[in-house]
Formats: sequence, C-alpha cells, structure tokens
Amino acid sequence: MTDRYAVIGHPISHSKSPQIHAAFAQATGQDISYTAIEAPLEGFATTVQAFRAQGGRGVNVTLPFKLQACEFASHPSDAARLAGAANALKFDGERVWAENFDGVGLVNDLQNNRGRALKGARVLLLGAGGATRGALLPIALQGPAVLAVANRTADKAHALRRDFVAHAALQASGYDELAGEAFDVVINATSAGLSGEALPLPASLFAPGALAYDMVYGKGLTPFLRQAQAAGVAALADGVGMLVEQAAEAFAWWRGVRPGTREVIARLSVPLV
Ligand code: ATR
Repeated sequence: MTDRYAVIGHPISHSKSPQIHAAFAQATGQDISYTAIEAPLEGFATTVQAFRAQGGRGVNVTLPFKLQACEFASHPSDAARLAGAANALKFDGERVWAENFDGVGLVNDLQNNRGRALKGARVLLLGAGGATRGALLPIALQGPAVLAVANRTADKAHALRRDFVAHAALQASGYDELAGEAFDVVINATSAGLSGEALPLPASLFAPGALAYDMVYGKGLTPFLRQAQAAGVAALADGVGMLVEQAAEAFAWWRGVRPGTREVIARLSVPLV
C-alpha cells in the first residue's frame, strides 16, 4: 500500500519538497506519495489531524508552523525542543514524534557537499531567529573553534547564548561589534535579503578562503552573497543543499532508507549570478 506523506505550510505552492521526495522515492524504490498542503493560518493542528486520520504517516512542516509543530508533538526530539521548532513529524499509533532536521541538513551540506570541516573552524551565524536556533546545536556538536551569533537586535543574540549555555559556548553580539573579527564560515540566517536589504557587515569579516552561505535558495546572488563577493569571497553557496539534505534526513527517518542527494541538488541548483 502507498504510504502518504505531505509538507504543510502557508503559503506552500513554492515548495520543492514534493519534487525532492518523489525523486528520493523513485531512487530508493519506496512506495510513497508526497503532496503539498496549505493549512489555514489558524488551522495547523486541524490540518495535521485530518491528514493523520486519512492514514498519513508523516509530514514536513514549513513556515509559519514550525513552532506549532513542536508543540503539537507528544515526543519532540532534543534538537526540536532546543530549537523550539520542528520541521518533520512522524505518526506512530498515538505518538507524534517531532524532529528538526534543518541544522543537520546545513551541517551535512557544509561538510559533505562543500568540503568545509566545521571542527576547529570559526563559524558565524547572522540572525537570531528560528533559522539560527535550529542550526546551533548541530553546528556546536561538530566542535568549531568559535561559534558566534550576531543579530540586528543584539539582545536576541544574547538571549540565544543564554538558552544554549548548557550545549555550546556561543559568542553573541550586534553587527557593530564584529569589527576586527574574521570567520571561516559565515552563514546568513536572517530574512533581510528577502526584502532586498544587505546587512551592515565589515569586509574584513571574511577570513582568507572563507565560505559565505545564504540559507535562502533559488534566488541567485542574494544581497548577502553579493556583499561577500565584493569583499573578495570566492566560495559562495545558497541553501539548496541544506534543503535537500534536511529532506534526506526526514526520508531516512520515515522510511529507514537513506537516499543520495547529489543528483537532486544538481537538478534544483540555480546559478549564483
Ligand atoms: P526565521 O524563523 O526565518 O529565522 P525570524 O525568527 O522572524 O525568522 O527571524 C528573522 C531574523 O532576520 C532576525 O534575526 C531578524 O533580526 P531582528 O531580530 O533584529 O529582527 C533578521 N532580520 C530581518 N530583517 C532584517 C534586516 N532588514 N536587517 C537585519 N536583520 C534582519
């Protein structure tokens, strides 16, 4: 029997997840269907319950429901609880398991696809919202030499540092305090670029040979990547690999089979111009 999965968000029409999971299912011979469901803004839980009642086995969850997905679960993972957000649910009888694979997807993309070992690296995350929160623990587990968070509202970066104090020694600041510092991996986890805005970053922020990584995907050269390029950074990446890698984690969690990601990443990649 075909097992049913879906991605739930609002809006959802832009989602690449059905395409990604269809490719994984074909490559691994798994008999699944995977659809996109737009839940009303006030109707996340009702939508999930209805999908479950119809025999759904699991869902991915995207904006703006990741926080609610974590609350909805009876068994959230440590990663989901610490992030306060989940992007994948698995239904198992009465139990609802929740995971957050965004961070591990990012780490796998950086290390396995981009050849950037995080152990001993100086890593900076820009932004202190949900995207950063989800990425911190998986990055910290790799043992970077420095793990820093900088945010427009410095207080939010400091609050994150306190929340993660038992798990990681975070350096927290506003952007103006970054002067004189240099990082090997700089990750944009803000939504500033969506409105075309650049961040007030010093050019000296990027160490020689640094990688600039924007979590946004499919937009070509974002304002952040353009800024990094202007500062002399040659290694530029958008978030398409993170997207596909988190999907592979969810697929493996649901199905017990790990799909390859390279071909799917190549197919969804758009040139950074
Ligand atoms: P997400 O879940 O995608 O992380 P979020 O929780 O709303 O979204 O967080 C958005 C992040 O982008 C925040 O770090 C926000 O900075 P503030 O905390 O100071 O608001 C950041 N951001 C959004 N627009 C920005 C801009 N124009 N300049 C700088 N930072 C911006």
